Amino acid sequence: KILILDFGSQVTQLIARRVRELGVYCELHPYDMSEDAIRAFGAKGVILSGGPESTLEAGSPRAPEIVWQLGVPVLGICYGMQTMAMQLGGQVSPGSVKEFGYAEVRARGHSKLFDGIQDRAGEAGEGLLDVWMSHGDYVSRLPEGFSRIGSTHDLDYAAMADETRGYYAVQFHPEVTHTTQGKELYSRFVHAICGCGSAWTPHNIADDAIARVRQQVGDKKVLLGLSGGVDSSVVAALLHKAIGDQLTCVFVDNGLLRLHEGDAVMQMFAQNMGVKVIRADAEALFLERLAGVADPEAKRKIIGKTFIDVFEAEATKLKDVEFLAQGTIYPDVIESAGAKTGKAHVIKSHHNVGGLPAHMRMQLVEPLRELFKDEVRALGLELGLPREMVFRHPFPGPGLGVRILGEVSKPAADTLRRADHIFIEELRKAGWYDQTSQAFAVFLPVKSVGVTGDGRRYEPVIALRAVQTIDFMTAHWAHLPYELLDVCSRRIVNEVPGVSRVVYDISGKPPATIEWE
Ligand code: XMP
Repeated sequence: KILILDFGSQVTQLIARRVRELGVYCELHPYDMSEDAIRAFGAKGVILSGGPESTLEAGSPRAPEIVWQLGVPVLGICYGMQTMAMQLGGQVSPGSVKEFGYAEVRARGHSKLFDGIQDRAGEAGEGLLDVWMSHGDYVSRLPEGFSRIGSTHDLDYAAMADETRGYYAVQFHPEVTHTTQGKELYSRFVHAICGCGSAWTPHNIADDAIARVRQQVGDKKVLLGLSGGVDSSVVAALLHKAIGDQLTCVFVDNGLLRLHEGDAVMQMFAQNMGVKVIRADAEALFLERLAGVADPEAKRKIIGKTFIDVFEAEATKLKDVEFLAQGTIYPDVIESAGAKTGKAHVIKSHHNVGGLPAHMRMQLVEPLRELFKDEVRALGLELGLPREMVFRHPFPGPGLGVRILGEVSKPAADTLRRADHIFIEELRKAGWYDQTSQAFAVFLPVKSVGVTGDGRRYEPVIALRAVQTIDFMTAHWAHLPYELLDVCSRRIVNEVPGVSRVVYDISGKPPATIEWE
């Protein structure tokens, strides 16, 4: 396995994902991880990430000295290259301008890192690589024992290596897709240089997770809050495989789910897979508590609190449950660790409904804690979950509660469900579902005038929203074909009573958020 020390770059997570995609297990830790922990980790190689600071500033981060004593290869990226140069006796200088974006790297001499990879050949047959740069400072003198293995028009030392010690460094970012040979370059490092195999596959991940769950829980009982979303569904499938009937799921139907969603969840898990699922039909309670409340945050709080009340009430009916399973995934772990140490530069305020009620004294089972979302999906497929389920768009915890603007009511929820269902059905039919990251309908309580054969109507409006995004922090509105929008609009006004106007949301994030509330 590979250890990645994080100096705070925005793209450090991508390094971990590239390495995992290559079938190599890796973990991401803050650069000031303790020496003991680093030794105990037992890495076959270490990667030093990029970072936002300057190595020239007093007190700026350095790699722990132990890294140079482990006797394993080290790869420095951007800031990681600069701190490597500084720590091993080279020199870094401030750039007069920041270099940002495309650059062409020319391979110099032979190195194990660039061996066999190039985008094209230069005049003398040397390899040329298209890369993505983002830095201010640069390495101006190599440390003892290093040679230059790559340069660009503006940069003498775009890449350096000390092959004897197995130290490599690049000034550019191979983890971003703009660096076309990036994945190959990581493969050279983890496979050819560090000698890692490719055992991190969905099949092995499943076997390993099942074994670990069995070991952790023994013959004890486990409770899981099943939402029908990807993460909790994969946990359910995994635990069912690992411990069968020792697992009980509680599925809370809050009345704010999509059309037929509750039935679909029961069908798939209870009927088809034989998982023990308790369905708590709590629509009435949720709607009662939401009555008269229009403020989005107040609605979120009520929905979150009511969820916990219902979940707990079901849980206390069960006897002798010692474990609570959760669908925590690796980005959540990294983000909350970063939030604690103040090192995360991207912090997403994760407003998930649910969470562990403090007084429910159970031990946690979190079998997805080490997995990225794409790994969770691959694991879901491996465990036999259907593709449509595994590649579902995310759905917020408060559900339709934040898609019915203002006060929530059952008629509004029913109208929205039907409109949303038509939109999603048409997106799937047209092959657009997988090309969008999230798509849904929104119920607008404003009334608009419409006219049908027998007269004027005065009815609420349905807005459609479809976005494309990588990380949900920023998003573009999806440029859906007019024909598709046209079919959706016609079907919604014809098939959903009480709607005579449909609009399409063409706002990006920022400034607009993805949800309307
Ligand atoms: P926004 O609307 O903030 O949404 O651009 C970003 C992503 O987060 C989801 N979202 C939520 N998820 N509880 C959740 O579990 C919430 O209260 C919530 N609000 C927004 C949203 O669906 C999108 O994927």
